Amino acid sequence: MILVYLGCFLLILYYLYTRNYDYWESRGVPFEKPFFLFGNFYKIFSGKQHISLRIREIYNNFSSPYVGIYIFNQPNLIIRSPDVLKRILVKDFDKFVNRKVASNEAVDPIAAHTLFTSQDQVWKNLRAKISPVFTSGKMKLMLPLMKACASDFVNHLDKHNGEVIEVRETTKRYAVDIISSCAFGINSECFNDENSEILKEATKLLDFTSFVRSFSIFSFFFVPKFVDIFRLTLVDKSASDYLVNVFRTTFKERQKRNIVRNDLIDLLNNLKQNETFNDSYKFDDVKMASQAISFFTAGNDTTSVTVAFILYELALQPNIQDRLRREIREAFEKYGDFTYEAINEMKYLDMVFSETLRKYPLATFLNRKSATKYTFEETGFTVDEGVAILVPVAALHYDPKYFPNPENFDPERFSNENKHKIVPYTYLPFGDGPRNCIGQRFGTLVGKVALSYCLKDFAFEKAEATSVPLEFEPRTLFMVNKKGLYLRAVKL
Ligand code: HEM
Repeated sequence: MILVYLGCFLLILYYLYTRNYDYWESRGVPFEKPFFLFGNFYKIFSGKQHISLRIREIYNNFSSPYVGIYIFNQPNLIIRSPDVLKRILVKDFDKFVNRKVASNEAVDPIAAHTLFTSQDQVWKNLRAKISPVFTSGKMKLMLPLMKACASDFVNHLDKHNGEVIEVRETTKRYAVDIISSCAFGINSECFNDENSEILKEATKLLDFTSFVRSFSIFSFFFVPKFVDIFRLTLVDKSASDYLVNVFRTTFKERQKRNIVRNDLIDLLNNLKQNETFNDSYKFDDVKMASQAISFFTAGNDTTSVTVAFILYELALQPNIQDRLRREIREAFEKYGDFTYEAINEMKYLDMVFSETLRKYPLATFLNRKSATKYTFEETGFTVDEGVAILVPVAALHYDPKYFPNPENFDPERFSNENKHKIVPYTYLPFGDGPRNCIGQRFGTLVGKVALSYCLKDFAFEKAEATSVPLEFEPRTLFMVNKKGLYLRAVKL
């Protein structure tokens, strides 16, 4: 009798769980058949395939403007057509303002107040307030702080001249150094102190090597219900508490002593000081710390991974590396230093940077959520309110229709002669529209400063330990090679 009851109970559960599985078919949307329980992401959750490769596989198996999939039992719509993407990201942005990402203020107030997770009018007010922090004038003022960190990077290479180094780990030290200096006003000593505390905490923030962290981060994006049920946080709680503490201490010190460094803390402080009674968004203690933590989180892995992949590709193609070094040395000679103008004048550096983000986009997908029922003019299909939209960035970057021979690393795609051929909305490393990456200028400058300093006097070479081809670790959202990125750095 117990077995019969249990069987009935399981059947009811099965019915309730899978009844959504005809969602796309009943709406006439081409879809990939879901696999029981996991939907179309089984290979990701079982650790067999990286998320970017899974989405690419689905993208390649269809030719329709969009494809329906299920993540667990939740319908998600992958958009394949650049025209439809333009509507979602730009033209009809007001119908797709928010990301489909969890937020639980009671459990994780720091994450709840970031630009990344905030919603609707709160996001609009916050974005309008923060945008002036990232103008080119402000970046120029921060350049000296970045250059000091780049010098430490070069000194580190000097100490390891001729050795094989794991570049991902080295560029992480550089990026944490810069973001600690610019967002927290402190010297992290990442290169001088093997046991730098801030580096340890930064590594814990988004640590995909831990099952719990990996589960938490994937849940924020794909199973928001788990965030409430298991009281999950987006970034590691102890690392975030540590950084909030560092931020608050520096912030108070600044106010007390009137210190001016032209860094992100100063800029946040100015925004707070200049608030008026009528301001639509007011900073309090938590909201200020929240911005600093979000800059810290968004600003370290993004730039460090990008610079590491650039060095990797340059080691595999010495002719590209030589050409870039020639440009860097010429700019240095012309300006006598790596000034803001010198860095922005280097066309080939920009081409190499752009091609790296084409081949290794940090965010391999973007996500949005429909705010209301919305009809796509192109096809007449109406998407329901609240449906998750996935923008398959990596799949577009690897579609031979838009980027011929996509596996080839070819900076010429971004030359003045060629870049106008890129179909709009097929190249999206920083997203697009009003909700694109606010730190694009900052991240690009940090990366270019590192490359200018390193490549001027060092060559990066392939070594025995260098993985070719790369194999991405499935448990991470970013593209991370399973065996690290090992290269030999040689002083010229
Ligand atoms: C190479 C470096 C970087 C890459 C490739 C990158 C990429 C991205 C992407 C793809 C998005 C989502 C855009 C969208 O949904 O349309 C994003 C959002 C964001 N990024 Fe970056 N990012 C980088 C560096 C940075 C840095 C250095 C910071 C801060 C200091 C930063 C702060 C942010 C923030 C706050 C958002 C959320 C914006 C919003 O929702 O309004 N990023 N980034």
